[in-house]
Amino acid sequence: MSTDTAAPLVLVSNRGPVTFEDDGSMSRGTGGLVTALTGLASHRDAVWIASAMTPADAKRAQEAGGRPIDIRTPTGGEYQVKLVASDAEAYDGFYNIVANPMLWFIQHYLWDLSNAPDIRRHEIDAFDYGYRVVNEDLARAVIEEIDGREHPVVMVHDYHFYLLPALVRAARPDVFLHHFVHIPWTQSDAWRVLPNRLREEVFRGILANDIVGFHTRSYRRNFLQCCEDLMGLEVDHEAGVVRYEDREVWVRAYPLPIDARATLQVARSARVRQFETELLRRRRDHLILRVDRADLSKNVLRGFSAFDLFLEQHPEFAEKVTFVAQLMPSRTDVPEYAEYLERIEALVAVVNHRHGTPDWMPIQLKLRDDLEEAVAAYKHYDVLLVNAMFDGMNLVAKEGPLVNERGGVSILSENTGAHEELGEFALSVNPFDIQELADAIHSALTMGEGRRAERLDGLKAIVTERDPGDWIDEQLADIRKKAGVDLGPPVG
Ligand code: F6P
Repeated sequence: MSTDTAAPLVLVSNRGPVTFEDDGSMSRGTGGLVTALTGLASHRDAVWIASAMTPADAKRAQEAGGRPIDIRTPTGGEYQVKLVASDAEAYDGFYNIVANPMLWFIQHYLWDLSNAPDIRRHEIDAFDYGYRVVNEDLARAVIEEIDGREHPVVMVHDYHFYLLPALVRAARPDVFLHHFVHIPWTQSDAWRVLPNRLREEVFRGILANDIVGFHTRSYRRNFLQCCEDLMGLEVDHEAGVVRYEDREVWVRAYPLPIDARATLQVARSARVRQFETELLRRRRDHLILRVDRADLSKNVLRGFSAFDLFLEQHPEFAEKVTFVAQLMPSRTDVPEYAEYLERIEALVAVVNHRHGTPDWMPIQLKLRDDLEEAVAAYKHYDVLLVNAMFDGMNLVAKEGPLVNERGGVSILSENTGAHEELGEFALSVNPFDIQELADAIHSALTMGEGRRAERLDGLKAIVTERDPGDWIDEQLADIRKKAGVDLGPPVG
């Protein structure tokens, strides 16, 4: 259903809401973000432009002859997806060299200043002939989509498309551009590792937006400071406004909530119950859980080292506690990620060898992405470990407490976006302090029932306050305020 009076809307993200398989079938992305944006897209005259991520996506895009593909939502709504297939080599440079690890590392303070990765010709070429090319490809698709239409609104997602807004603005100065960055925005010195020309292009690109959104006030603050320090721009920190080329860029914080209703529905499914039965059959007295992508920013190795230390310092817990780590392999074509997975497996072997017994494997490593299996474990953990070094938001920190039924305690890194909202009811930790992590595991496992329940109730109340529809509506309200354009009725 589209609203005739509403402004035309284009959404842009690297990973789209659907993926096509070789047999022509289609699978839908999961998670609050996809749900929220699908809700937005299907209630408006919207097209979602995304990269063709697989050969089957590219084939489907070719069959569509560059036209958008009609998608029906499970609830009977409709929207359109346009998949853009870039040159394979350009896409490789875009995704595997520039977006990850280069920008990802800068934006999670993962850049090892004394060591690799260096920026040489190879990386600069990947920026010029990969990152820029894919940005140009999607920008072209956006420009085509809004051609001849009045008051278009374009909502861009994430660090893959910092150059796109300037390209679209150059072709259509009247466009309204809103860009949400899902990962942290680091302090200005972290950006100084990017060669000056590249850095300037990134900032000129993102400053072509009318509104730039982040998950937290602290990323908003860092972004404003960067504009002052690195670009010499006039910034109103209080109001969150950057003045750039006779325009005002609004910088805002919109923390992403989870889709509590959908997660609770998954928690009641038969498949989750099957996993629960299996989990309960094998469970020891205590269960520690982590669920993450196998990403360096998640700090998986320090989590296992802390567990190792905890077992060493508290031998009374031997055979009584299991640490289940469900990790989804990610970006494995990037050497740093492939190597990280190897280091994870090696450390798990060491800890299990050091403390395990013939009947007890202290760490159970599950290298897979299975939402139902994760949700089953969410219901029964005693401790949820979220110890990311830096993390844009971290939705596991919200989903776990929502469905937990055991008074589970959250150990939460103070460097996650979620900490701004949940810190009060979690055991906050400095993710680099392994002793503090080990102590937090001990405190969580020995905490009295009353205090555990109080903390969990506090977390449940916060994570059910807003939903992804509200998150979208907060952004639409700002678009309406700044541009005066109507994007139709609220989503939430
Ligand atoms: O956190 C940023 C993000 O783009 C998320 O939206 C997403 O869950 C994650 O990274 C996955 O990244 P990729 O698309 O590289 O698998």
